[in-house]
Amino acid sequence: MFKVGIITASDKGCAGEREDLSGKIIKEIVESKGYKVEKSVILPDDEKSLLEEMIHMADELKLDLILTTGGTGFSKRDVTPEATIKACDRMANGIAEAIRYYSLSITPRAMLSRAVSGIRGETLIVNLPGSPKAVKESLEYIIDSLHHGLEILK
Ligand code: MTE
Repeated sequence: MFKVGIITASDKGCAGEREDLSGKIIKEIVESKGYKVEKSVILPDDEKSLLEEMIHMADELKLDLILTTGGTGFSKRDVTPEATIKACDRMANGIAEAIRYYSLSITPRAMLSRAVSGIRGETLIVNLPGSPKAVKESLEYIIDSLHHGLEILK
């Protein structure tokens, strides 16, 4: 059974001003596939905090998959891709490209996501957009193909 960590990057969510619906949707989708969510956190849009959590989930908790939501857009506070690039030792760009490619058929605004995906050790890290709608569309599209990649990484 693959172990999953969920990181919601949201200043408002972290301050308790917005409910973390996107994190909830990720949990529902991965659990429906038989994955186990070991840890779920809401962090502010702060590169250092996001990077430290990714490193902790990968190196100490030894999770197979880290899914992030939020912080991939153009706002100055959007730094999830930068933290992810620093955490990864090998990028796996195809996953983020596949999400953008599929999402463009839903909304041209998908081109505004700067999301990335990559590997730290034996952990795959994938950025998802922030809105619950975008999370559902993106994750449902990639989840079955991720499974094969995770098996190879183990
Ligand atoms: N992808 C999908 N599938 N559906 C969407 O509605 N919204 C886009 C994009 N990707 C969207 C999507 C929009 S409007 C933005 S600004 C970017 O994701 C970045 O979102 P984020 O800053 O919340 O991470």
